[in-house]
Amino acid sequence: MFEKPFSQACENNKRPILAVLERAFANSKVVLEIGSGTGQHATFFAQHLGHLVWHTSDQVQYHQGINAYIDELSLTNIIRPRPLKVGEDSFPDIGADAFFSANTAHIMQKQEVMLLMHSISEQLPPGGVFCQYGPFTQNGKFNAKSNEEFHHSLLERGYGGYRDIDELREWAGLLSLAEVIDMPANNHMLIWKK
Ligand SMILES: C[S@@+](CC[C@H](N)C(=O)[O-])C[C@H]1O[C@@H](n2cnc3c(N)ncnc32)[C@H](O)[C@@H]1O
Repeated sequence: MFEKPFSQACENNKRPILAVLERAFANSKVVLEIGSGTGQHATFFAQHLGHLVWHTSDQVQYHQGINAYIDELSLTNIIRPRPLKVGEDSFPDIGADAFFSANTAHIMQKQEVMLLMHSISEQLPPGGVFCQYGPFTQNGKFNAKSNEEFHHSLLERGYGGYRDIDELREWAGLLSLAEVIDMPANNHMLIWKK
């Protein structure tokens, strides 16, 4: 039997993230999530942000898990995962006026993050919002020793590692960084607006 994936981090961060999204996505209608992972975030946010249609996406090997979370609930405002690996697949044309991505920028390769920022800048309509959550460096500095250690362990394992907020700004095209919010566990929420 298929066992649903589970992330304790998602359980810990979903309520603080929701508190930000309630405000940041107050006027949004269609959200595309990049890298939905387990599906815990998507189902929780779709449940609590009923005014939104929440589109999930990720690499295909994650789809069974995301679908398992979706199957547990009878939500009408969540869309089953699309295959979307930034760098390989093009962004779907679904009329998204908002994007969300959590804990993806330090996993992706640098080129993929550049493309992520560029593509969202291109796809969002004026007034659109991108909420980007995760650990980042600021002015080239880690905000915790544990983050620095994790960054090095990611590089050793072939992942892209932490991105600096200034670096993201350079790649963000028509997006401007409206807010940098400190989040629990030494994470940040970056709110980008077009
Ligand atoms: C650490 S997990 C985070 C999952 C979830 N968003 C969360 O916060 O728990 C990293 C996610 O990034 C996705 N990912 C990595 N590279 C990607 C790429 N090039 N395009 C899209 N997603 C990617 C992985 O498939 C995975 O779901």
